[in-house]
Amino acid sequence: MSTLRPRVHFTARQYWLNDPNGLVYAGGAYHLFYQHNPRAAEHGYMSWGHATSPDLLTWTEHDVALPWRERHDVFSGSAVVDWANTSGLGRPGDPHPPVVAMYTAAGYYHQAQHLAVSRDGGATWDFATPDPVLDEGKQDFRDPKTFRHAASGQWISVVVHPDERQIGVYGSPDLHVWRELSRFGPVGGVDGIWEVPDLFPLTTPDGQERWVMKVDVFAGGPQGGTGAQYWVGDFDGAVFTPTQPARWADWGKDFYAAITYSDLPDPGRRVWLAWMNSWDYAKAIPTHPWRGAMTLPRELGLAPDGTEWALTQTPVRELDGVRQERRELIPGQDVEVTPGQALDLEMTVPQGGRAILTFRSEAGVEATLRAGGGELVLERPARADVPGFGGTHAAPLPPAGGDTDLRVILDTCSLEVFAAGGRVSLTDLLLPAAPVTRVTLDGEARRALWPLRPCVPDWEGEE
Ligand code: FRU
Repeated sequence: MSTLRPRVHFTARQYWLNDPNGLVYAGGAYHLFYQHNPRAAEHGYMSWGHATSPDLLTWTEHDVALPWRERHDVFSGSAVVDWANTSGLGRPGDPHPPVVAMYTAAGYYHQAQHLAVSRDGGATWDFATPDPVLDEGKQDFRDPKTFRHAASGQWISVVVHPDERQIGVYGSPDLHVWRELSRFGPVGGVDGIWEVPDLFPLTTPDGQERWVMKVDVFAGGPQGGTGAQYWVGDFDGAVFTPTQPARWADWGKDFYAAITYSDLPDPGRRVWLAWMNSWDYAKAIPTHPWRGAMTLPRELGLAPDGTEWALTQTPVRELDGVRQERRELIPGQDVEVTPGQALDLEMTVPQGGRAILTFRSEAGVEATLRAGGGELVLERPARADVPGFGGTHAAPLPPAGGDTDLRVILDTCSLEVFAAGGRVSLTDLLLPAAPVTRVTLDGEARRALWPLRPCVPDWEGEE
């Protein structure tokens, strides 16, 4: 298998992948659609690729669900189960309620929102109607994220106006007829255009419902370049009102276009995943025959952070199920790692202490992670073939007042770091010159490490 092909992260069997699309649980499976070029490892002929999983980790790729068409690319969007067939897209005798996707058709200087439908629980798809359901005659207007808002008894869709740095909030009784209810923005990070909004509720530890608005910025992210910002606030069925300033959802370079799952079997559960990449250099990532990976699916929550709420992210609990035998990570002692082995590391850094993790291959140091002194710092070496790749990416750690927990997932070409109860996450691609074979911990941390069982097929003959 290719030395860079991830073992616990989703990649397409071959060719280009960017944003996750249409994340929905339907027909007994988790569906993952994604921006995909089925013809080449470049952005183009944009279609919705399709994979399903029983556990959010083991994915089976299927035929393209929504293929590129002569007149337009199929850009990003979302999907919902239309339980009551409000759309009328379900037919008498269908074995499943219709699953309805809303996506952006990106044509010549024109973007508008269209519907597609699956009548077999998400397995196969049809473009629903020839006409757009939401069209303002604009060149840039995209990435609808649609959800059922029970309290107001309607569908809501948040759709981005990239150039205006605004999110339109639209309401509909039937997914066909949409009315603008409000606009959010410009506010927070506005250096770059906005893309891929999401709006969803979370419950605080003391049982209050709060809403989170998320949108990505194309420039001016926490490490320069692309990034994801969010606000916590209230949503009354028409207007989102932030109650605190914008915060970064992730402090690395490689977390973009995250959206949350719809219709999860456990209604209190909120899971999202992102494209693990940056538009700064996505087109130069030297992997073959695939290009582009997703982050791990992450469980979301809210936790207090000073006088504000912080979004918390932790790898989905299903990841615990692929942990293999626990190994100790003893400060100062190298742990040898089989090339290609994915690792799940957990540490507790005592107050005033620090942890330094070094990841080495035969070629040298491939990444260093330091936690302590109020910050988390990841360093990755530069690469001549990927402009802007090398760098030092720092994130502030919330004042600990005690131990700081740290969880690090290493896969062949990425590091995802979660700290302080998931209040801080930092996601970076790695492009090691050779596979990581040694991990060293220095400092005062207590530690454990679990090798992870590979979740992807071993594609024979892949270089
Ligand atoms: C975000 C994005 C979206 C668009 C899609 C096109 O990465 O630019 O705004 O719908 O990718 O592939």
